[in-house]
Amino acid sequence: MPPLLKSRRSFQRALHAWYRKNARPLPWRVSPSLYGTVVSEFMLQQTQVATVLPYFERWMAALPDFAALATAPADTVMRLWAGLGYYSRARNLHKLALAVQARPGMPRTPGEWCELPGIGPYTAAAITSIAQGHAAACVDGNVVRVLARLTNERREFKDNSDAAAFFHPLADSLIVGSRPGDHNQAMMELGATICTRSGPRCTECPVAAFCAGRRHGDPAAMPRLRPKQYESRAVARAWCVHRGRLLLHRAGHGQRRLGGLHELPELIRLGVSPEACDLLLERRRSVTRFRIRESIYSVTWNKTIASRIARDSTFVFVPVDGLDEVALSGPHARWVRELVVAT
Ligand code: ADE
Repeated sequence: MPPLLKSRRSFQRALHAWYRKNARPLPWRVSPSLYGTVVSEFMLQQTQVATVLPYFERWMAALPDFAALATAPADTVMRLWAGLGYYSRARNLHKLALAVQARPGMPRTPGEWCELPGIGPYTAAAITSIAQGHAAACVDGNVVRVLARLTNERREFKDNSDAAAFFHPLADSLIVGSRPGDHNQAMMELGATICTRSGPRCTECPVAAFCAGRRHGDPAAMPRLRPKQYESRAVARAWCVHRGRLLLHRAGHGQRRLGGLHELPELIRLGVSPEACDLLLERRRSVTRFRIRESIYSVTWNKTIASRIARDSTFVFVPVDGLDEVALSGPHARWVRELVVAT
């Protein structure tokens, strides 16, 4: 048995006492509900707490329960999510509300939750442990880091999910006999605030006495994850304003990543070459494994573009003073704000 498990009880006591005193008063913790837990867990997939907070508050004010979400139009859902990224989460959450409304009662076990759209084992464990008292461990990036350091695990993992699978049995054993929702959130909180990626603050850590990484001298070196392979891409886009309206491209609701969101159109779709245009803005960003250079060019409306988009309903003109009304993806909303001021 790993040494950490031998002292499970005292480990839990130290961790939980620290959590009770130090947990950030996040809105889904302050007034907990099953619906709030589901919404927060969807938003927190791939996204940090600080980014999620204003979105969560706006969402809960507009769509306070499963019934309100189930009957909301897709455009409203996308507008409330616009800027959070990974938009399939919003579409899945919408579908989940419809599925929940169609059921005789709420799902109760991780297995039942996993049958609903957008729910994988991690989210099922988070929801059932936090809102339904189920002893299912959550192993996200924060928990992987905490466990790798606590156990001084020096093997190299292919990626985070490889590491999560490795640590799952230990995490499941550590949760036994505790209040599962508090235990899971305490582990995540420790990783988010003390045992951080940039450097563990061991002198403030409530479980430093149990930490093999600390005893061996180099906790910051763990977990060891194989470096990611990135691919470079360049995208050229149009800033095309005609009679006070901006040309945007709208991805269909069926599209996996961006369905229902508006973006500045790619030059290639308009049949325009960048050599013929002035460069207005250049930005770099990362999407999954792609490092993208985005270049936005000033494009003058002409007959060629008009005929190109004439029969394509995915192109829309939106009044420049009404851009707040449409759901733009996060980076595009920033660029549009900059360009409205600059042009
Ligand atoms: N990340 C995922 N779930 C979380 C939660 N409930 N609190 C803080 N961070 C989280």
